[in-house]
Amino acid sequence: MTNNKSFQAVVAGTGSYLPEKILTNQDLEKTLNTSDAWITERTGIHERRIASEEESASVMAAKAGKQALEEGGLSPENLDLIIVATSSPDVLFPSTACFVQNELHAFGAAAYDISAVCSGFIFGLSIAEQYLKTGRYENILLIGSEVNSRIVDWSDRATCILFGDGAGAMLLKRVEQEKPLGILSTHIYSDGSLSDLICVPGGIGKTGINKEDIDNKKYFIKMSGNATFKVAVKRMTDVIREALEFNGLSMEEVGILVPHQANQRIIRAVAERLEYPMEKVFMNIHKYGNTSGASIPIGVDEARRTGSIKPKQTSVLAAVGAGLTWGSAVIKW
Ligand code: UT7
Repeated sequence: MTNNKSFQAVVAGTGSYLPEKILTNQDLEKTLNTSDAWITERTGIHERRIASEEESASVMAAKAGKQALEEGGLSPENLDLIIVATSSPDVLFPSTACFVQNELHAFGAAAYDISAVCSGFIFGLSIAEQYLKTGRYENILLIGSEVNSRIVDWSDRATCILFGDGAGAMLLKRVEQEKPLGILSTHIYSDGSLSDLICVPGGIGKTGINKEDIDNKKYFIKMSGNATFKVAVKRMTDVIREALEFNGLSMEEVGILVPHQANQRIIRAVAERLEYPMEKVFMNIHKYGNTSGASIPIGVDEARRTGSIKPKQTSVLAAVGAGLTWGSAVIKW
């Protein structure tokens, strides 16, 4: 390990994958006591993507990961590490990242999953930042991938309307230079006292998989929407402010804010508190809903491909999720 040099952790490529199947609010009106008007007004979501039988977290992650590798011009065998942020892994173990490694033939890499739900990708950026800036690793593939459609209770209108499936990836690379570039900072937090706000309560290691929990639909997402909403606005605003202060940046110097896409009203409330114009806030919630750990990397990939993220621009990414977990990252392109 060489740690007497100045290393930066830069983004060398991004990718994303969304399943083809679209489930619209109108489709949901046919099976649930809900309406397009309610969903649109309360969340900003119009439609979401649903994985096919063949698509799992690892399948989608590998597709997004391949795109990021292609853009970065890196052969999979040169990867040092694959991290997958997911709360809907293919199986309990082995990790989804190991399946991705196999699919990519990236056998020189260590591979593991991280569990920080909607904040998972930001937590992953924080891990990658350490490995790259200390000089330990040179190439890291970080992916967020979720098949939320398999862990939502499709009879619970308060949660199932929110979530969608997809994957996003980032190839992060170590470069040796003094001038800060790439990941400028990450700030991550957890508060386990709020673990009941959003959870999949069914026991695995705690009580064993049991019929009672299955019958009571405890292996699906449960959420206290209102309480989560309030805490999400506060934590996301605070952690963005902290990131700005840490980097000596003002909100005017931020070219784009890519927030976790959980609810359009949460995002608007955060932007309002930061006095940041909505035109500079990236939004794709109307198309994909809440894709948990995949939301930030899908957003960053789309923002890059559509020109919303420009070279030399500074972006702020921020998320809040189950745990409770929350965090922010600042990236200079
Ligand atoms: O990604 C992790 C972070 N997750 C979040 O941040 C999610 C945060 N929470 C939210 O986004 C919002 O709380 C929700 C979208 C989940 C709910 O919106 P809300 O404005 O907080 O609604 P509410 O839970 O206060 O419910 C208002 C009413 C209730 O009816 P009553 O009790 O007033 O008669 C609900 O039963 O809306 C009803 N409702 C619905 N009505 C039609 C709840 N879901 C639906 C629905 N369609 N799908």
